[in-house]
Amino acid sequence: MISIKSAKQIDKMRESCKLTKELFLILEDKIKPGITTKELDTIAYDFYKKHGATPNFLNYNGYPATICASVNDEVVHGIPSTKTILRDGDIISIDMGCILDGWHSDAARTFGVGKISDEAQKLIDDTKQSFFEGISVIKHGVKLGDVSHTIQTFLEERGYGVVRDLVGHGIGRELHESPEVPNFGTAGRGIRLAAGMTLAIEPMVTAGSYRVGVLDDDWTVVTADGSLAAHYENTVVITRDGCEILTL
Ligand code: CO
Repeated sequence: MISIKSAKQIDKMRESCKLTKELFLILEDKIKPGITTKELDTIAYDFYKKHGATPNFLNYNGYPATICASVNDEVVHGIPSTKTILRDGDIISIDMGCILDGWHSDAARTFGVGKISDEAQKLIDDTKQSFFEGISVIKHGVKLGDVSHTIQTFLEERGYGVVRDLVGHGIGRELHESPEVPNFGTAGRGIRLAAGMTLAIEPMVTAGSYRVGVLDDDWTVVTADGSLAAHYENTVVITRDGCEILTL
């Protein structure tokens, strides 16, 4: 069952998403060589609490932090640590969200730390662009496979790996709702999008093979070949003639 949200419910999601959007601006400013991912996590936790929101990843299936902080070849679900000190030239993907008044938000960005390579910057930019390519085909009545296919084609034409093992998702009263939103797929397939559906669309992209593995902490997803990875995610609502991005 894919739930359709009312205008009132979307207003509530907009408030939740607004907090997550604002928090990215704060964190972006703090991302510099020398800061630890644990410090970023504490800033995020305090920010959500101060605004009456609950971090939605914290304790989700036992996840131990507010944000996911994934560095270089880490794709997603990197656990913040006092031992992970950001260095000049690193890239870091931050994924986070909250529940405000019963409604979820979820978004991710990849940032460069200090001066990064042209290759890393291009990976970050193209990952972000693939999201916008994907949403450019969205409107009421379009098949979900068209969105997935558009994202995949944009990325693979540029030589990137599109992660298969993790996908985007519906979002609302729950962090993960129906449908699954893959970043790969066949045009014309899948469910028909309808106005009022709310989705977290989140390309996870590697500079090499799409294959991934999980570290011994049972959370951190890394590229199998050690290549760099980037992530870009927004919570969006489908409308009659397009979509609205709630976390941007
Ligand atoms: Co998500």
